[in-house]
Amino acid sequence: MMLPMPKEAPERVITGDPQDGDIQADTSLRPRRLGEYVNQDKVKSNLSISIEAARGRGEPLDHVLLYGPPGLGKTTLAYIIAAEMGVSIRVTSGPAIERIGDLAAILTSLQDGDVLFIDEIHRLSRVVEEFLYPALEDGAIDWVTGKGPGARSIRLAIKPFTLVGATTRYAMMSPPLRDRFGAVYRLDFHDVEALSQIIRRSASIIGIAIDEGGTEAIARRARGTPRVANRLLRRVRDFAQVRADGHITEAVALEALGALEIDHLGLDNVDERVLRTIIEKFDGGPVGLETIAASISEEADTIMDVYEPYLMQLGFLQRTPRGRLATRLAYEHLGLQPRAGAPSPQKALFD
Ligand SMILES: Nc1ncnc2c1ncn2[C@@H]1O[C@H](COP(=O)(O)OP(=O)(O)OP(=O)(O)O)[C@@H](O)[C@H]1O
Ligand SMILES: [Mg+2]
Repeated sequence: MMLPMPKEAPERVITGDPQDGDIQADTSLRPRRLGEYVNQDKVKSNLSISIEAARGRGEPLDHVLLYGPPGLGKTTLAYIIAAEMGVSIRVTSGPAIERIGDLAAILTSLQDGDVLFIDEIHRLSRVVEEFLYPALEDGAIDWVTGKGPGARSIRLAIKPFTLVGATTRYAMMSPPLRDRFGAVYRLDFHDVEALSQIIRRSASIIGIAIDEGGTEAIARRARGTPRVANRLLRRVRDFAQVRADGHITEAVALEALGALEIDHLGLDNVDERVLRTIIEKFDGGPVGLETIAASISEEADTIMDVYEPYLMQLGFLQRTPRGRLATRLAYEHLGLQPRAGAPSPQKALFD
């Protein structure tokens, strides 16, 4: 009998999701203050006004919700908010808070004005979420003691704090939770110029020699995502060190990125398989996400969170109520003749 081959985790150079080696890099390359945070100008200017106003009144900042695809800088911004407010930050995540008691312990330990950062906030359980509401609105928690008919609820005051929530799935958050944030910011993909600035900054921190051509070559393939930009920079640096004289020029960058099988738009073979499945197996769609995931043996969540946002940003893919559709641009990118009636993209932000 043949046993199935163990499935090896494929190497993911282009995902916005954190991979091995990113965690340390994320920390050392993470901008500490708002002034170092590249791009996202609207978010920065709104935040800095709210921060200044709250500080002026001597109050904690209103609760902030950050959403957007992985690797765009949500966690970074949470730390920056705490630093700019001059308070401590407590970091946790939706799945880590399993019981009400876990959350109660955190909430009662916060100091005046502290930031509580809850990553993946859409994954809080219903009960935990509801326990959080009075904390957000009334500065109190309702603690139930005893069981059955003898159970009593006591209201405990907690210190005023700022909740910073982050999510890649805004749509999965319950409306009552969303409504409790005073400010909601969507982080956008970065353009090539902003990514170049991030790459120059990271290169100077790590001490990598890179010229303009090398910087732009990486920026163009970084999928609008700072984490991907930093990861490609490290990979290209390894290549430059072993195969060249350590300097990253355009030629070195292109050769390294070619070896990593990343195309000129930053797409890898998973992106290509997603597009080819829709086009070749389902005549351009519409086809459901689960079906696509099953045909290429990938997790539906990974496709939805990591691959699709950038494919949509490129104008290659559309999400419709009936399923995913490949646009004319997707056909053309793969060198195929567009099917009659293939939709034209609404916008293509990258050339
Ligand atoms: N605006 C920015 N300027 C400079 N560097 C940035 C910026 N945004 C993100 N980065 C870099 O990208 C890395 C990843 O950012 P971060 O961890 O904040 O992303 P995230 O949105 O929290 O991702 P996830 O959804 O996976 O939690 C950081 O280490 C930082 O170096
Ligand atoms: Mg994060």
